[in-house]
Amino acid sequence: MHRSRFIGIGSYLPPRVVTNDDLAEMMDTSDEWIKTRSGISERRWVEPDVTTTDLGLKAADAALDSAGLDRSDIDMIVFATLSPDHEFPGNACFLQAKLDLPGIPAIDVRQQCTGFVYATSIADAMIRAGNASTVLVVGAEIHSKGLDLTTRGRDVSVLFGDGAGAAVMQATEVSDPAVDSHVLSTHLHADGAFAEALWLPAPGMAYEKFSTSAQLEAGLQYPQMDGRAVFVNAVTRMPEAVEEALAANDLTADDIDVFVFHQANMRIIEAAAHRLGAPADKIVNTIDHTANTTAATLPICLDEAAKSGRLEAGMLVAAAAFGSGFTWGSMIIRW
Ligand code: UT7
Repeated sequence: MHRSRFIGIGSYLPPRVVTNDDLAEMMDTSDEWIKTRSGISERRWVEPDVTTTDLGLKAADAALDSAGLDRSDIDMIVFATLSPDHEFPGNACFLQAKLDLPGIPAIDVRQQCTGFVYATSIADAMIRAGNASTVLVVGAEIHSKGLDLTTRGRDVSVLFGDGAGAAVMQATEVSDPAVDSHVLSTHLHADGAFAEALWLPAPGMAYEKFSTSAQLEAGLQYPQMDGRAVFVNAVTRMPEAVEEALAANDLTADDIDVFVFHQANMRIIEAAAHRLGAPADKIVNTIDHTANTTAATLPICLDEAAKSGRLEAGMLVAAAAFGSGFTWGSMIIRW
C-alpha cells in the first residue's frame, strides 16, 4: 500500500509566559474563573516583532531535525493558520521564502482549530496520489496581538495562546498495517450554518470598504464567540468524529494507545473522553500551559507526547479537533 506517514514532529512556544493573574491585571477576570471554566493556568505570547511564520519556521526546523532531513528534502508546504502574517498571500508562501525553497507548491489552510486535521488530510491525499513525497505540514498561530484585552473581550481573550507545531509527512510502502507507521484515515466535516458562532467579522469584503473606522469603533476586529454554542457542538462532534474513524478502520477505543483532542477547554476534552471511554492516562493534554493555540494545538500535543516518551513508534494515535466554521474532523495514525 502506498501511504503517508509522520517521520518528524516539532513545536515551538514563544518564551514569554502570561499567567491568569497577569490577565487579571488587564481585565475583570480571575485565576479561579479561568482555571475552573477552562483548565488553563498560563499561555505564551510573542514579542511585538515576531510573526506567525517566524513561529512556524522554528517548528518546521524542529520537525526536520526530528526527521533527520534537510529543508531541501521538502517538496510541498501546507500551512494551517487563522492568524496569517498578511491578508494575502498566504503564510505557506512567506514560510517558503524563509525556508529558501523556491518552486515547490505552498498551500494555506484556513480551517481554524481543525486546521491541522485538514492540512494533514491534504498532505496525505497528495502523497497517496503521487503528487508529493515529503510534505511539511505546519500549524502556527499568534492570538495575543489580535485579542480584546479589556473586560469586553474576556470571554475569548483568556482562552487563547500563541505557538506553533509542525510535522514532516513522507510517502511509505506499508506491508504490515499492524506494525508499519502510516496514516490510516482522516475524516473531515464542516457546517457553515454556524460560521458566525465563532468568527472575526472585520476587516473584509462583506463591507462597503475592506477596512473602515466604523468596524474598529464597533470592535469587529476582535474574535466574537457564542461560547455555549461552541461548547455544546464540540462535546458532540469531536467524539463523533473519532467514533466514525474507529468504525472506518474496524477499531475500538481500546485499540488506541494515545488520544489527542483539540485543546480548547478541559471540560470539553473530559466530556469527549468520557463518551469514548478513553482513560485519562491515554490522553495527552497541554491546555494548562498553552491555552488554545488553534491550528498549532495538535502538533504541539504530538510533539510534547513524543518528547515525554508517551508516544512511541508503532503506537495507534486518534486525534480530533473542533472549531470555528464550524469545522471538525479526526485522524488515526500508526506512529
Ligand atoms: O476551539 C473552539 C474555541 N472555543 C471554545 O471551545 C470555547 C467553548 N466554550 C467554552 O469553553 C465556555 O463556554 C466558556 C469557557 C467560554 C465560558 O464558560 P461558561 O461556563 O459557559 O460561562 P458563561 O459563558 O456561561 O459565563 C458565565 C459568567 C458570565 O457572567 P454572568 O452573565 O453569569 O454574570 C460571563 O460574563 O462568566 C462571565 N465571564 C467571565 N468572568 C470572569 C465570561 N468570561 C469571563 C472571564 N472572567 N474571562
